Order: sequence, then structure tokens, then C-alpha cells
Amino acid sequence: MDYTNKNFPILKNTRLLDAALGRNVDKVPVWVMRQAGRYLPEFQEVRAKHDFFNVCRTPELACEVTLQPLRRYDHLDASIIFSDILVIPQALGMIVEMHPGKGPVFPKPLVHPSEIDQLQEDGAVSRLTYVGQAITLTRHKIEGKVPLIGFTGAPFTLMGYMIEGGGSQTMSKTKEWLEKYPKDIHRLLSLLTRVIIDYLVMQVESGAQLLQVFESSADHLTREQFSEISAPYLKDIKSGVEKKLKEKQLEQVPMTVFAKGGGHSLDIQAKMGYETIGLDWTVDPVEARKIVGENITLQGNLDPQDLYKTPDEIRNLTVDMVKKFGKHRYIANLGHGITPQTPLESMTAFTEAVHEAL
Ligand code: CP3
Repeated sequence: MDYTNKNFPILKNTRLLDAALGRNVDKVPVWVMRQAGRYLPEFQEVRAKHDFFNVCRTPELACEVTLQPLRRYDHLDASIIFSDILVIPQALGMIVEMHPGKGPVFPKPLVHPSEIDQLQEDGAVSRLTYVGQAITLTRHKIEGKVPLIGFTGAPFTLMGYMIEGGGSQTMSKTKEWLEKYPKDIHRLLSLLTRVIIDYLVMQVESGAQLLQVFESSADHLTREQFSEISAPYLKDIKSGVEKKLKEKQLEQVPMTVFAKGGGHSLDIQAKMGYETIGLDWTVDPVEARKIVGENITLQGNLDPQDLYKTPDEIRNLTVDMVKKFGKHRYIANLGHGITPQTPLESMTAFTEAVHEAL
């Protein structure tokens, strides 16, 4: 595969990008967070043979898994490159393992701020070239059927995993750092922000057509904490990516911020410059629209647990949701990632109902 060939097939389905940019759409676009994931038997087959991060690191496998949900579900209007937010800590020199049934594990998490200096910022993005290659390969293989989304974890969420050493219910170690080492926290968040900006620009150079930034741990933050340790960096990421794309004479791409549990800070999020704000299922669509105004696209937000209901119930809930958001500046999605035991037919019910709702 020649990864320098960026002559991609022309995009045939522009709904996602149109909605993100506030243009009219014929139907509400729909995709699902974690749509390439464990609920798909064909994904499980790949995972039975390959370690999680090996799938991420092998462009052919990452591409194959990215395309799987599109083969099964005709109504999907986007694909998201198969990878993980934790490839950034890996590129900084940390070890991250994916333990089945447990999730990500860092055998040696950060235990003291002095260890920030040991993170290898230089060359970090070049160690993520495989993500760019997976994106380029997928753009060719997808044949312009739908756009390809690139993504990253946001600085606070990544920092949390690096300090906790994995997922955490309480984030007590991270909160201890916030109290004890406020200066070092900002040094680490700034380092992550610099790497993230270059990483996202590399993804666009490789063919990503929209970028989503996951602040998945925002549910641990108060509004005040969000405005101090999350929002400034999210804002810098948006303006930093725009600036670098301009310098490199690359086309701008719309960007989405998804701060799970950040419903208390939608007004702050609306000022960060992103074209789209993702909502979790706790946020009311009508209230959200009032807060963010008319010039931002909203994405979301069916409760992933609703996909355990019957197809008829799913259809009804989905139609209600789409009607509340309306057709203008709206991208349908779940309020968080699809869960592993979700029945396959639930995705059919959800995606079809979005297209039939309005
Ligand atoms: O959305 C997609 O289809 C693209 C792929 C994608 C994955 N992870 C694959 C994955 C994306 C966008 C992510 C992002 C991600 N990774 C986030 C942000 C989104 C969110 O869910 O809040 C976070 C917090 C992570 C870190 C991570 N990776 C955790 C906490 C876990 C374990 C929990 C879980 O759902 O299993 C993972 C593992 C992971 N990432 C899997 C997949 C398909 C399952 C692992 C496996 O196959 O064994």
C-alpha cells in the first residue's frame, strides 16, 4: 500500500459534514460511538486472533474493523477510525495493556510529577504514524461511501488514565494531584495538548474528514473544575488545529467535542469554537439548544441502555429524540458508546428510525 497517495474517491454521502457545518440535509445523519466494537460477531472474530493494540497498530486490521459496521448497517452515515485514545500515552513511552473483561491497564502509572519529565514528547506523533496509515488505507477502501472520522482523547481524560493506571470510579489519585500539584497538572495538560494538536493535524493530512475530541471523564468535574482544567485545553486544541491546518495549506475540517457528564457546562463548551457539541443522555435536547444557540450542531444522545429494549420501543424513543432535536444542525448518535451485549437488531432499529423520523 502506498500511503502517500491521497487521491481519495469522491465523497458520496455528505450528510454528516453538512450537518456539522450547518448546511441543509435530506435526512438526519447517524453514526454510533464504538460502532466498530464487541457487539459485532465479526469484530469478536478478529479480536480472538489479535491483541487489541495490535489491531490498532496494523493498518489492514484497523481498516477491516472500521468497515465492519458499514457492511452490516446500510443507514450509517459515517465511519470512525478504529483505534483508542490511549495510543497517546503509549507514544509518550508509557506501557498500556488491554485486559479482556477489565479494560486498559498501565503497569507503571505516573505516581509523582517528577515523572512528567520522562514522558517522550519528541517524536510522539511520529510513533503514531500507523494511525495515519490506517486512516489513509480506510479512505481508499471506503470508496467515498461515507466520511471517515478521526479522534483523540482530551488532555484531562488522558491525564486521568495516566495517573490512575486505568479506568477509575472515583479518580481519587487524579483529584489528589489536582490539590497537591496544581502547577504540574497544568504542565502535563499543556504537554498533552501540544501532542494532541499535532496528532490531529497528522490525521487530517492522512485523510480524516471530521475530528472528535473525547473528554470522557468530564463527569468527574464540577463546572468550576471543567472551566479550569478542561475547557482551556479543549479550546487550545480547536484553535491550534485550525492554525496548523492553515499553515500547511490543508482544508479545515469540522470538529466535535464530546464531554461526557459535561451537561453543566454547555455554555462554556459553546465558546470553545467547535462546530459540534456531543451530548450524553442526561441532557435534554431542547434545553441544550436553548443554551448553545442556533450556530452549533448538537450530537447525541440516546441512552445506550435503551438499545436493550424491543426494536419497536427503540424506534419510538429514537423518533421522539430526533423530533426534539430537529433536522437543522443535528447528528444522531447514542449518548455514549454502544455496549458489548447490545443485540444486533437494535442498531438496525436505531439507525433506520433516525432516517425515517423526519
Ligand atoms: O468508536 C469506535 O468504533 C472507534 C473505536 C474506539 C475505541 N475506543 C475502541 C475500543 C474509540 C473512539 C475509543 C475511544 C475511547 N477509548 C474512549 C473515549 C470514548 C468513551 O467510551 O468514553 C475511552 C475512554 C477509551 C479507553 C478505553 N478503551 C476503555 C476505558 C476501554 C475499556 C472499556 C470497554 O469499553 O471495553 C477500551 C477498550 C476498547 N476501545 C474496546 C474497543 C472496541 C474494547 C476492547 C476489546 O476489544 O477488548
